[in-house]
Amino acid sequence: MGIRIMKTSSYLPGRIVDNFYFESILDTSDEWISSRTGIKKRHFVENEEIIDLVKESVVKLNLSQEELRNVKTIVVATCTSSHAIPNLASQVQEHFDFGEDIYSLDINMGCTGFVAGLRLIEGMIQEGEYALLIGAEIFSKILDFTDRSTVVLFGDGAGAVLLEYCDKDNFFNFGTRGNTEALNYGKDSDNLSMKGREVYKFAVSTVGGSISEFLKENNMQKDDIDYFISHQANIRMLESMAKNLGVNMDKFPSNIDRVGNTSCASIPILLDDMSKEGKLKPGNRLIIFGFGAGFTWALAYMEW
Ligand code: ACO
Repeated sequence: MGIRIMKTSSYLPGRIVDNFYFESILDTSDEWISSRTGIKKRHFVENEEIIDLVKESVVKLNLSQEELRNVKTIVVATCTSSHAIPNLASQVQEHFDFGEDIYSLDINMGCTGFVAGLRLIEGMIQEGEYALLIGAEIFSKILDFTDRSTVVLFGDGAGAVLLEYCDKDNFFNFGTRGNTEALNYGKDSDNLSMKGREVYKFAVSTVGGSISEFLKENNMQKDDIDYFISHQANIRMLESMAKNLGVNMDKFPSNIDRVGNTSCASIPILLDDMSKEGKLKPGNRLIIFGFGAGFTWALAYMEW
C-alpha cells in the first residue's frame, strides 16, 4: 500500500524579479547568474505573508466537498515560517471547510521537507482518506541583499498536492549528515548564510550518488524511471547528477530558470508545471528527491 498524487497546484507571488535587478544593486551580472545557476528570474512577495501563499495554493487545488471531508492529514513543509506558534498546517484547517479529525504538522527539514512529508503521509494514510501536503517559502525575507552569493539564488512561492491512499507501494530513503556551518539562518546569522561550494559538492556527490544506490536497493534500473524530479537548486547540479547517472536531461525536468530555488516549494511547483504541460501520464514512474540544510536528503519512488 502507498500514496498517489491526485491533484497539484502552485502559487507564485506577483512581483517578478529578473537578474538585471541584481545587476542594479550588486556587483553581479545576468550572464554570471544564468550561466552558474540556470536562474533568469524569480518571484518575491510584496505584502504577503507565508500563510497567504499557503492558502492560495490550497484554493488552487479546487477541493470538492468530499475531498475536504476526507482529508485527515495536513502537512506544511517550510523553513521560512513567519512565526513558531501556531503552525501553518493548523491555520490551513482554520481557513477551509475541513473537519476537526485532522493531524496537522509543519516540517522543517531544509529543502528536503516536501519529500519528508510524503514519507510521513505514506505511514499515516488509511484507505478512503486523503492528505494535503504543501511546500511554501518566503526566502526573500531572510536573504541578505548585500550578499551576491546567496541573494540571487532563491525565490518565494508555494505548491500543494492532494494525496490519496493507493495499493501500489512507494519506496523511500533518507539521510542526515549534521552540518551547522554550510547553511544557517538564525543560529549564528540574522540572514541566510551559506557555503555555496560545500552545498554544491554535497548535492552532486552524496545526493546524486544516493540515486544509484536507491535504484539498486529496490531492484530498479535507471531506464525503469520516467522522471527524476529533483529539488531545484542549480541547473548545473541537475546536469552533473544526470550525467553521473547516465541519463538524458529530458528525464531531469527543471523550471529553475523562471522561479529560482523555492526550497520546500520547488518540487510541488515543478510537479504542477509538468502536470499542466501534460508531461505526467498515469503509470509514470518517478523518483522524487530533495536535499538541503542540515545536511539532509530524501528520495521517494512513486507512480503517477
Ligand atoms: N555574481 C558574480 N560573482 C559571484 C556571485 C554573483 N552573484 N556569487 C559569487 N560570485 C563570485 C564569488 O565571489 C567568487 O569570486 P572569487 O573567485 O573572486 O572569490 C566566484 O564567483 C566563484 O565563486 P564560487 O562560490 O566558487 O562559484 P560557484 O561556481 O561554486 O557558484 C553557487 C556559486 C551558484 C552559489 C554554487 O556554489 C551553488 O549553487 N551552490 C549550491 C547552493 C544551494 O543550492 N543552496 C541551497 C541549498 S538548499 C536549502 O536547504 C536552503
